[in-house]
Amino acid sequence: MNLADLNRVAEALVSPGKGILAADESSGTIKKRFDAIGVESTEDNRRDYREMMFRAEDALSKYISGVILYDETIWQKSRDGTPLIKLIEQAGAIPGIKVDEGTQPLPECPGELVTVGLDKLSERLKKYYAQGARFAKWRAVIDIGKSIPSYTAIHTNAHALARYAALCQAAQIAPIVEPEVLMDGDHDIDRCYEVTEFVLKQTFQELYAQKVALEGMILKPNMVVSGKKNAKQASVQEVAEKTIRLLRNCVPSAVPGIAFLSGGQSDEEATAHLDAINRIGHQPWKLTFSYGRALQNAPQKAWSGKPANVQAAQQAFTHRAHMNSLASKGEWKADLESRRAV
Ligand code: 13P
Repeated sequence: MNLADLNRVAEALVSPGKGILAADESSGTIKKRFDAIGVESTEDNRRDYREMMFRAEDALSKYISGVILYDETIWQKSRDGTPLIKLIEQAGAIPGIKVDEGTQPLPECPGELVTVGLDKLSERLKKYYAQGARFAKWRAVIDIGKSIPSYTAIHTNAHALARYAALCQAAQIAPIVEPEVLMDGDHDIDRCYEVTEFVLKQTFQELYAQKVALEGMILKPNMVVSGKKNAKQASVQEVAEKTIRLLRNCVPSAVPGIAFLSGGQSDEEATAHLDAINRIGHQPWKLTFSYGRALQNAPQKAWSGKPANVQAAQQAFTHRAHMNSLASKGEWKADLESRRAV
């Protein structure tokens, strides 16, 4: 492992004013997104959609440090024959790759899942590196419910995350470690805090056990928020304060950066929360975005599968990327949303 190079990639992913575009929806997930805008999920449509974003040059060159790709996309060529991965590199962003293979039910743990994909991961990482990927992502999912999460689910997922991270670093690929505590339940914000704290403590314990170099990784956590179905939704300020308190208690300062997932928050909520988090003041790590839905909802709607809408979709994407870039510096203002700055 060359730690200096891994550290350079991790630092570049969280460089000031930049964040990550998570465009790594699996075939099942992108079909759901396309269904919502009435577009058939064919290989060509998926290519056209992602090409639209990767050619939004201002967005990629000014606000996006890296793009997480799904396996299909990393091998795809744009309409004019340029590999999609080249479009990302030409814009100055770093290509990354989702390497987990989704989830499976965890035996004897009703309702809980374990993320799979460790078998032959080393071989796949070598191919991805040769293709240009310099960072990777693995997402573990922890659900909050009546009597979950169980220790078994937390421990098993944390162990798999750490094994993945160690294999990535051995292959000179910087791992994004994503233990996502879902916001789908009716729990309150303090329950989210409690579960996320346990999950992060366990994750860093496992990363240590697997000898992962913290300087060469990025953490991708959920923010501390109220469950979506809870009647009392915490304020933006409460989310920011509890998220920072949690991270300060769980994340060693050797980690270069923390790039949040949006997890089902609305576009503006995800931006407002990131902004409030960054306004709290200086922290040992950079705090930015690694959003999927909160960057893509708007451009997906604007595009709706029509070539004539490509420019409007690129503008919508660039706007969201710009807003989140400002939020990553604590410089966003709500009134900028109505005066599109692109
Ligand atoms: P969301 O921002 O839509 O949660 O997606 C981020 C991601 O990469 C989930 O794995």
